[in-house]
Amino acid sequence: MNIVETKGLKKYFKRKKQLIKAVDGVDIFIKKKQVTALVGESGCGKTTLAKTLLGFYNADGGRIILEDKDITRIRENYSFVRERIQIVFQNPSLSIDPRYTVFRTLLETLRVFKKVSIEMAKGTIIDFLNKAGLDETCLYLYPHQLSGGQAQRVSIARALINNPRVVILDEPTSNLDVSTTVKIIDLLAELKDKESLSYFFISHNLKLIAKVADYIFVMYYGKIVECGPKDILYRNPLHPYTKLLIEASEYKLKSAYIQGKSKEGCVFRGRCAIEKPHCEVEPEAKEVEPGHFVFCHYI
Ligand SMILES: Nc1ncnc2c1ncn2[C@@H]1O[C@H](COP(=O)(O)OP(=O)(O)OP(=O)(O)O)[C@@H](O)[C@H]1O
Ligand SMILES: [Mg+2]
Repeated sequence: MNIVETKGLKKYFKRKKQLIKAVDGVDIFIKKKQVTALVGESGCGKTTLAKTLLGFYNADGGRIILEDKDITRIRENYSFVRERIQIVFQNPSLSIDPRYTVFRTLLETLRVFKKVSIEMAKGTIIDFLNKAGLDETCLYLYPHQLSGGQAQRVSIARALINNPRVVILDEPTSNLDVSTTVKIIDLLAELKDKESLSYFFISHNLKLIAKVADYIFVMYYGKIVECGPKDILYRNPLHPYTKLLIEASEYKLKSAYIQGKSKEGCVFRGRCAIEKPHCEVEPEAKEVEPGHFVFCHYI
């Protein structure tokens, strides 16, 4: 069962007369109570896709469906979306207001949907801080007084405090050290079950994705190139880009990224090992085994 779906979703930016097709005709789905992952290297459009789902940007094409409701026209659906989808960003120091204490941050969020007195709010705030593995001692601290892990826990508490159904996790641990990452990932897994959440987990780290995901979308330059259940995708990656992602080190990916601009047709042209002339035509999705789709003419 899908809680979120997109059909042909597009978000373009204009920069110095250049059109950047950050999200270019994307079909994804987020399954209820599962971890749906989005993987792809830096700049491929992951955050733009997340922000478009949340209504931070108006889509330039396509549709977004949330719980069977078309929410593409964001102005008309703003509170419907905000009540149901929340996001945790990579860098809490950018997403938490530095002028607010932890208490105030959570109070403001709580008051977006409910009129609550400070006294009533306090109980809820402490409850969600506890859920996120923090206690009352941090209530009146400012963001700069928190460690990276603590700040990310505040972001998690803030994302959950209005009981959303879907939480987008945009590289939630990429600013954290290894041991803090493990703790935050464990916490997210625990909260997912306790609070019946569906996650959309964005990362360029395939090792992490392998740990957390149920279903994976692989994105390249604004397009999905392959998707499938985690076990199947790791056992049988088919798209040349997915194979590269699984094999390559981060260093190779970053350097390859700069070279790999493609024009018409398959988005992976110019970087693909099995490219042929027909790749000038954009490939459609092929279902190669149940739930496993690949966008390539030669698979
Ligand atoms: N507000 C914006 N205005 C103009 N261009 C943008 C804007 N936001 C993103 N872009 C461009 O859109 C493309 C996709 O960016 P996006 O941030 O979605 O990538 P990403 O996959 O999240 O990368 P990262 O892994 O580094 O976070 C990039 O070329 C980026 O420069
Ligand atoms: Mg991003």
